[in-house]
Amino acid sequence: MSDLLKDQVAIVTGSGRGIGAATAKMMAAEGARVVVSDLDADPSEAVAAEIKKAGGEAIAFPGDVTDPAFPETLMKATVDAFGKITILVNNAGYTWDGVIHKMTDPQWSAIVDVHLTAPFRMIRATVPYMRDAAKAEMAAGSKPSSRCIINVSSTSGLHGNAGQINYAAAKMGIVGMTKTVAREWGNFNIRCNAVAFGTIETRLIQAKEQGETITVDGEEIAIGIPQQMRDMLTMMIPLGRTATPEEAAGGILLLASPYASYITGHTLEVTGGYGI
Ligand SMILES: NC(=O)c1ccc[n+]([C@@H]2O[C@H](COP(=O)([O-])OP(=O)(O)OC[C@H]3O[C@@H](n4cnc5c(N)ncnc54)[C@H](O)[C@@H]3O)[C@@H](O)[C@H]2O)c1
Repeated sequence: MSDLLKDQVAIVTGSGRGIGAATAKMMAAEGARVVVSDLDADPSEAVAAEIKKAGGEAIAFPGDVTDPAFPETLMKATVDAFGKITILVNNAGYTWDGVIHKMTDPQWSAIVDVHLTAPFRMIRATVPYMRDAAKAEMAAGSKPSSRCIINVSSTSGLHGNAGQINYAAAKMGIVGMTKTVAREWGNFNIRCNAVAFGTIETRLIQAKEQGETITVDGEEIAIGIPQQMRDMLTMMIPLGRTATPEEAAGGILLLASPYASYITGHTLEVTGGYGI
């Protein structure tokens, strides 16, 4: 245990597995009290239990980020448990790929909902606990405490990606959202940054041939990318390999840490050099 995030309270969405789980564990190991929130309850509970077993502090608060009522419930549960919110990581999501001429409206909407509308609602739901809390500190004559929001983007957002018009649009949209929050809330000492991931070894990018799926609203959606694409991607990554979820979480942790106190509105590429 270290104390890079001492006195911080972090919400990490989609933290039942993958990059979110690694982020929650690393933040807890750095002293943050963490709310583990995922669509799936069992993995949320398991990650929170793992954090507590390792000597950290965490609660599990599962739920669907696309439920319009969920963000406010999540914020309230966090404050009830830990008294405040200082870090929000908008990480939850999945892919539902399709070429443009076959992309359906539900497919488009579901992905824009989870990767764009849900983070917007999450950010808006922090207002009483981040913006208003900072205003109150300023009114009392003190410098507002450090608070930050980190949104997860993707190389698909920055460069586009065949078969991902819905995901690419949402993941670029979150970059615009990030810069807007940074501009509106900078004077409250609320930083907002994005991390664009390349190829991180989670279930999201496993070979499609393995048949991995996610069930959303009762619908089973195939995730993953074709094996041929995986092979090709690795060849285009200057570091020549994919990354672990912990390496991805490192980018998020960096932006949440005091070492990033003067960084806002930035999109950090954690890609092994892909796309440079
Ligand atoms: N893995 C990569 O290479 C990669 C690359 C670029 C961006 N990303 C992004 O990173 C983020 C994390 O993905 P990952 O790779 O860890 O995948 P993952 O599937 O391992 O984890 C994503 C988690 O989000 C949860 N989730 C999905 N929809 C949700 C919802 N509606 N409400 C609450 N939770 C929900 C899932 O249950 C899952 O536990 C995503 O936003 C993804 O788009 C990943």
